[in-house]
Parts: sequence; structure tokens; C-alpha cells
Amino acid sequence: MSKLWQGDLHGALNAIADDFNSSISFDHKMYKQDIEGSIAHSAMLAEVGIISHDEAAQIAAALKAIRAELENGELVFDFSAEDIHSFVEQELVKRIGDAGKKLHTARSRNDQVALDLRLYLRDEADEIIVLLQELLKVLVQKAEEYSELVMPGYTHLQRAQPVNFGHHLTAYSMSFCRDIERLRDCRRRINRSPLGAGALAGTGFPIDRKMTAELLGCEEVCMNSMDAVSDRDYCVELASCLALIMSHLSRFSEELILWSSWEFKFITLSDSFTTGSSIMPQKKNPDMAELTRGKTGRVYGNLMSLLTVLKGLPLAYNKDMQEDKEAIFDSCKTVKDCLKVFAPMLDSMTAHADNMLRAAQKGFINATDLADYLTAKGMPFRDAYRVSGDIVALCIKENKVLEELPLEKYLEFSDMFAEDLFEAIDLVNCCSKRTSLGGAAPSALKAQLEYIKEFI
Ligand code: ARG
Repeated sequence: MSKLWQGDLHGALNAIADDFNSSISFDHKMYKQDIEGSIAHSAMLAEVGIISHDEAAQIAAALKAIRAELENGELVFDFSAEDIHSFVEQELVKRIGDAGKKLHTARSRNDQVALDLRLYLRDEADEIIVLLQELLKVLVQKAEEYSELVMPGYTHLQRAQPVNFGHHLTAYSMSFCRDIERLRDCRRRINRSPLGAGALAGTGFPIDRKMTAELLGCEEVCMNSMDAVSDRDYCVELASCLALIMSHLSRFSEELILWSSWEFKFITLSDSFTTGSSIMPQKKNPDMAELTRGKTGRVYGNLMSLLTVLKGLPLAYNKDMQEDKEAIFDSCKTVKDCLKVFAPMLDSMTAHADNMLRAAQKGFINATDLADYLTAKGMPFRDAYRVSGDIVALCIKENKVLEELPLEKYLEFSDMFAEDLFEAIDLVNCCSKRTSLGGAAPSALKAQLEYIKEFI
């Protein structure tokens, strides 16, 4: 395909350079947005009298036909085109001639590509928000189901204090809520129109930038033409939001992998979301979680690529910026793929209450509660902490858990102990009394789940 810029002034490109330069292999993904932007641009050109309404109508009809044909397969992308913008414009001119040649009045591919990418990423952000909401729905439902299932909560991967499984799952829900908040915020800055900035300096034609912005559903216009064509902050911001989503999914994956090991056996992931081994018949490998953890690397990498591409670029547009798309497209696709597999994987997992409780019974995770018991009876916390520690040491020596030590032994440490101490260190009670706002008690979890439901 010949170039939009090819003529007497500029001869043909070397074939290898042509291939190197072309971006249609990846920017064809933005065909819808390119067409949408062009329809808005031509409507505006007609409105302000730069082209006739009849020409605008011809342009819009032909662009819509191109879009429909691309979708039904009647028209295929010409991968020898320089980019999606060239392809659509050349196809348009092929169909309607002169009217098509007027479309690019008061526009450059620089503002066009910036617009297309913004519209594309706006859609991606919306889609990812919906997927996060779906995941949250599954998590809320699981948390309700497991709101009384006591398990050890960990710090340093050492058993620390009893929590319930629902509470643990809901910790992740909170991070996914923040991810949605961040995407919504980032979307506001994505959703600005650079159209009309031209190549870099604006135009002398009496265009109406606010009109195109409005037609395209953009909340604002980019206020400086040079910034409009050189700004890719929105890509970096989105890439960063996506990197954080992956960070959350990856940490969650790590726990799912640990929990489904024989060492823990807190959960079983369903057969439909695990794989077998070609040699070891007993295996159920948590591949989906592992892949999610692994794919986090590329999403982090994409963020770094984008930052690095932009570093040191002089204003305004530079061809380096063509490198933005593959990175951000890959991050969007990867996050969507991971979210799509994660929600049903969690939905179909089963939790093993007995194993969680057994694990909770070891490791003296009620030692804090023993100290709290004495503190409530009037002993200063630091002393109570000491006594509780000494009792744990005795239990370790006698190979017992706190619940098994008889009251007489407790009384040797302090006369404040009484029969009710066993109630105080009962694991279920230990968990259910942590009713502070955001705490691990089932009643406190209820408030958290209400917050999330409201948020969704
Ligand atoms: N394919 C280009 C990109 O992705 C479109 C803009 C080209 N502009 C230019 N002046 N060569 O950035």
C-alpha cells in the first residue's frame, strides 16, 4: 500500500524500513476508535462549514460500512499499510473519492493516534472495572460462606492470631476495591480529547474542539496542543494501575498455591482449574494461580517500558511513541485474562474447615488472648504478656497447647486465673470477640461486606 505522504517530495521506503516502521500489526485493534473519531471529526468539520453536510454524511456512511465489513470479515486489514489511520483513510478514499480526501482537514495522525489510544484505553479500563466487580462479587459470596471458619492468621508466615477465612479473603477484596477506585480516577484523565491539536500547533481552521470532545463522550479537551500530542501519562497511569492489580492477584495466587499444598491443605482448587502431571499421577497443580503470579512480571515490565520510552523525549510527537501500544495493550490483555480465570477459580474452590482449625490449634495463636485475659483482670499488659509467654514456654516443654494445660498450672503463674480463662482462649471466641471496626470477628466482617457491596 502506498503511503499517505508518498509523492514527488518523498520517494518509496526501503522494504525492510517499511516493515520496521509499520504499526498496523498491532494498532489495527483500534479500528473502531479510529472510525468513531473520524466520524466525530467530519461532523464537526461540516458543522463549522469546512466541508458540506453532504460530504460529512458520505464520510460517516462509508466509515460505518468499513467498520461493519471489518467486523463481518468482508473487509480484511491490509497489513502492508503503515498504520490503522492510513488504512482506514485510504479505504475511505477508495470508496468515496474527494469527500474522503477532505476528512484529514485540520487533523494530523498525531492528534488522531492520541485520540484513538485514549478512546481504546477508556474502553479497556471500563472492561477491567467490570471484571474486578465480578471478582468482588465472588469474593463477597465466599466470605459470607466462610465467615465463621476459623484459621490461623499469619505474620512472617508464622501463625499469629486466629481470623476467619472470610476475613482473610475480604482483605483481598479491599485491595480490588482500591484498584477500581484507581481505574475510575485514571479514566478521568484518559477521557480527554486531544483531537484538533493537529500535528502539534493547532490549526487556523475554525474548528470546534469542544464539539468533537462532546460527541466522543470526553469530559474535557487537552488544553495545550503540544501537550495533547505528546502526553502519554494516561498510558503510564493505566499501566501502573494494572501493575498494582497484578500485584494483588499475584500475592493472592501465592497464597492459593500455598494453601492447596499438602503442607497446608486449607483449600482444594477444582479440577477445572488445576492441571495434572504427565508423570506423577497424584498431582493437581495450581497452574492458573502460578501463571497469574508469573504474568505479573510482564505487566510490571510494560510499565517500565513505557516510562523508559518516554524518558527524554523532546516535545512534541516522536515516533518512539508508537512503542506505547504494544506495552499497554499487553498489560490490558494480561490483566483481563487473569481476572477472567481468577473469579471462576475462586468460585469453584473448596475450603477445608478441619485442616484450618487444626492449624489454628497449633502455634499458640491465642497467646495474645491469654495476655488480654489477665490485662482485663487488671494486670498491666506488659506483665500479662510476660506471664503468657512463660506459660507458652511451659506448654512447649510439656508438648501441650494452652487449652490442655489444667487450671492448677495456670494458678502457679498468677492467682488472677479462673475457670473462665478457657472461654477466653477458645479459638472461636478469640476470633469472634475481635469486633473492632475492620476486625476479624464475623460481626465485623459483616460491616466490611456491606461496604464492598455498596462499593460495587
Ligand atoms: N503509527 C503512529 C503511532 O502509533 C501514528 C502517528 C504517526 N505520526 C507521524 N507523524 N508519523 O504513533
